[in-house]
Amino acid sequence: MTRYHVTQTDSRRQASYVIMAKMAASMVESGEDAFRKIFKFYKRRNPPPDFSDVIDFSRGVPSAKVISAKLDLAAVSDTEAARVGLQSVRDWRAFSLQGYPGFIFISNPFLLGSQPFWVRQCLKTYPQKPNVCNLDMHMSPSDTQDIWGKSIHGLSGPPSGKRESKTLLERLRWVTLGYHYNWDTKTYSANHYTPFPDELHWLSFQITAACGFPGFNAEAGILNYYRSDSCLGIHVDESELDHSRPLLSFSFGQSAIFLLGGTCRQDPPTAMYMHSGDVMVMSGQSRLLYHAVPRIIPAPQGHTALEMEGCSLASPLQDSTVLEQMSEQDWAVCSRYIQSSRVNVTVRQVLGPGQSFPETPSQHHRTDAGQTDEYHEGSVDGERPKRKRSSSCDSIDIGET
Ligand code: SIN
Repeated sequence: MTRYHVTQTDSRRQASYVIMAKMAASMVESGEDAFRKIFKFYKRRNPPPDFSDVIDFSRGVPSAKVISAKLDLAAVSDTEAARVGLQSVRDWRAFSLQGYPGFIFISNPFLLGSQPFWVRQCLKTYPQKPNVCNLDMHMSPSDTQDIWGKSIHGLSGPPSGKRESKTLLERLRWVTLGYHYNWDTKTYSANHYTPFPDELHWLSFQITAACGFPGFNAEAGILNYYRSDSCLGIHVDESELDHSRPLLSFSFGQSAIFLLGGTCRQDPPTAMYMHSGDVMVMSGQSRLLYHAVPRIIPAPQGHTALEMEGCSLASPLQDSTVLEQMSEQDWAVCSRYIQSSRVNVTVRQVLGPGQSFPETPSQHHRTDAGQTDEYHEGSVDGERPKRKRSSSCDSIDIGET
């Protein structure tokens, strides 16, 4: 592993470490946990927070904490990578973070022009039945049957500036795939399963293989749709039955601040930017760490690099590719949507090899002893009601600031 050198002046960085350390000490005194305090710091609108401590992996080597990650270059051929829209693994910029073993951040490994396909999958394909989404909670199946088709009129062309009612796509907050996550019981079950999308399985399979986890089986996915004022509360993803398999996260559209904490809420988290195309792998000791998204960061002048990139693929589609050429009309809707939104996809393997669900759901429902009930950050349009729950997790609801 190569150790990178500090790029900012040491004195400035040391000063901000001292401020963070003081902040952490005062939180312990005030009884507020360190993670929550830093979450609130980055969520604050007025005055806006100082972002100088936020690690930006797209800038190469931004911090003394950043280490380049070693990938298994032989695990994925260039053809296999290109088939799912990825650059050759040799060209990926992959990083680890000191103090977070098993955490790998890959700064946008997608081939030029291939992200739009994945964005379209998230907006047009994955919200379709039989997948489950927040709108199903209070709308009839016929109303949520064609979210894309019912939204494209409102999302074609530039915003009119007039107050318009939100399209279904703009009201979408989450979609579940494969084993559908039950937000109330925080469990997956054998009898609530629909086929996991093949192309997303292969994308996840190649990335995890390059990160040293061959044979990953994508079994569940959660898509979170963020508007510019959304956030995601502090939580741990622990509902999967096998934690030895990594958790993958893909980000598209607007950037976000991601906080990665420790195994307890007193551990102050590290803040990092997640830009469009960035991929995160949480494995090993980092698989069960607290994390959250306190803020979406609008792109300067309202345009992300992805919008500039456009939907033309840099090279012709291969025979065996999972990618599809995208129509100008589909891209117009997608690019209008991501002008103000972010989509995150997390992919999980729920069961270990040969493992099956226990007989009754209660047998695999985890409640961590010694933790107090946590209150949810917030809910959107009443679609995921605020509720108390007994676990070490905080909200995984997307709340609005
Ligand atoms: C994210 O949106 O980046 C995080 C999603 C999650 O933790 O489930």
